[in-house]
Amino acid sequence: MRTQVGIVGAGPAGLMLSHLLHLAGIDSVVIENRSRKYVEERVRAGVLEQGTVELMVETGVGARLEQIGLVHHGIELRFNGHGHRIDFADLTGGKGITIYAQHEVVRDLTDARLAAGGQVIFEVDDVIVRDFDGPKPFIRYHTDSAAQQIECDFIAGCDGFHGICRPTIPAGVLTAFERVYPFAWLGILAEVAPSSDELIYANHERGFALHSMRSPQLTRLYLQCAPDEQIEAWPDARIWEELHRRFATRDRWKLSEGTVVQKGITEMRSFVVEPMQCGNLFLAGDAAHIVPPTGAKGLNLAVADVRVLARAIVEFYRSGSRELLNRYSETCLRRVWKVQRFSWWMTSMLHRFDDNNAFDRHRQMAELDYVTSSRAAAQSLAENYVGLPMED
Ligand code: APR
Ligand code: PHB
Repeated sequence: MRTQVGIVGAGPAGLMLSHLLHLAGIDSVVIENRSRKYVEERVRAGVLEQGTVELMVETGVGARLEQIGLVHHGIELRFNGHGHRIDFADLTGGKGITIYAQHEVVRDLTDARLAAGGQVIFEVDDVIVRDFDGPKPFIRYHTDSAAQQIECDFIAGCDGFHGICRPTIPAGVLTAFERVYPFAWLGILAEVAPSSDELIYANHERGFALHSMRSPQLTRLYLQCAPDEQIEAWPDARIWEELHRRFATRDRWKLSEGTVVQKGITEMRSFVVEPMQCGNLFLAGDAAHIVPPTGAKGLNLAVADVRVLARAIVEFYRSGSRELLNRYSETCLRRVWKVQRFSWWMTSMLHRFDDNNAFDRHRQMAELDYVTSSRAAAQSLAENYVGLPMED
């Protein structure tokens, strides 16, 4: 098989790249090792920055998003038994975020690619990428035990943190920067109307908690827990009890309980590799970087990367110039590091650290007090949360 761009991974990064390339008349093939059902049902993040929403709408994959996405113009920070609203609309000139599950984004993009005759091949095995240091890279894989090969001009490694593209790059090319946090998130999806119209980020002395949602009937909740926590140690009753404690306010705010339909543990990590490219192999999204989920940035960062990559590839086919391709990594990383900083900062401000001494605890409270009482500080949070400008 021959195509212009071979894409490994049908997550938000791989699918959006294939979609953007198609709109510019460039051919691609996406290969994915999981089934279509699996990727379309996998519960992940759910907050879209304004720029991500605009891109989906402008490129014709925003119909369901506009129909069922929940537009929010603020979040609440809760500490010391009181809630404080950060008003995004007021602080960013009318901007906001949209609650729309990542697996719905994946569904919309997959539908669009297949409807346009695009190739998204699911359930492939033994994927390898080769010869990307020269002009004729190729991808090999198996389907139903038959060997397949895709020859292409470029390979996009959109295969997530545990994918094969990044580890295939020869030793010495990449430098990794990493921070692993001493806690994880235990997340549940509950069949109950959200208890608040907006997201609530709570800093409690027992640990962080987050109230989010997926729809008017589905609440998404998270609790900070130990990194090696066993899910079996958390029967539903214990989860609700801990959530009630961490969200408690002086004016007796009430968290509604519902049937828990999904439960899981998310590890927390900050990770970046530099550069995000090697010859004709380009890494995008989680394959190149991971942020802790506190800032809700993972999906948005993946979309921002492929926007830069699509533009560079389009420019190459239009003019023959490799200038934008050569600068891909540098262009992405400027924004990636700012988003890393924000995600680390939100995480540091809101979680309980076991080695927190009394000084650290006071500093954390002062930080929250500052962010919720200074317009300049609140504006900094707001402009990062709704999404920094794309690197154009
Ligand atoms: N071959 C083919 N596909 C692979 C391989 C492989 N060897 N390894 C992994 N994949 C697939 C995964 O099954 C997954 O569907 O690559 C896809 C990567 O998708 P994501 O992990 O969703 O990563 P990305 O598209 O970069 O999106 C980033 O995902 O992890 C979340 O919260 C994160 O929202 C962020 C988003
Ligand atoms: C979610 O709804 O899953 C969610 C929301 C905000 C975050 C992280 C996750 O910061």
